[in-house]
Amino acid sequence: MATNYEQITARELKPALLELDGISRETIEAHYKLYQGYVNKRNEILGKLDGVDLSSANQVYSDLRSLKVDLTFAIGGIKNHEIYFEHLGGIGGDPAGIFGDLVKRDFGSVDAWRADMKATGMAGRGWAWTAYDWDEGRLFNYLGDAQNTFPVWNATALVALDVYEHAYFIDFGTDRASYIDKFFDNLDYDVINDWVQKYGIRK
Ligand SMILES: [Fe+2]
Repeated sequence: MATNYEQITARELKPALLELDGISRETIEAHYKLYQGYVNKRNEILGKLDGVDLSSANQVYSDLRSLKVDLTFAIGGIKNHEIYFEHLGGIGGDPAGIFGDLVKRDFGSVDAWRADMKATGMAGRGWAWTAYDWDEGRLFNYLGDAQNTFPVWNATALVALDVYEHAYFIDFGTDRASYIDKFFDNLDYDVINDWVQKYGIRK
């Protein structure tokens, strides 16, 4: 046996997600199906790893290699989307509370954080994240091209901006910039502040 794991199930979608400002129900429902797909594939891959042949492990090609590489894509897809769906459904505006304080401290101002995050989302091929780096003790906006690139160790994502085309093409066509503006308009900073509290991030 190569691993020991439990099956997981997709989290429920909050009803508020179906009534976002500018991001349609059609987009969210299609997007949620993609998330369910990541959950199913994570379970499938871990099931296959249970019986994988360890003795044939090989860096060029092997079942173990393929399964472990794609597992990171599936798990990334789950974690990224759980953050994304959970922190939408709010009224946007400027972040208050401890997250707002951290943003001002680490970026200089809310506008500077937003501008950097938007640019990171325009430059990424899949994701932009605002994450707290526990070693540096500060927030940074990280860029991702896929579900499994390029997170850094010991940083905790607090904002996850999905810039894959499936997140916006139905509503905005190729106008990613307008989608990103709407993303900010729908953020729920109470949810983000709850995470900051729960994780024990301090100023
Ligand atoms: Fe997505």
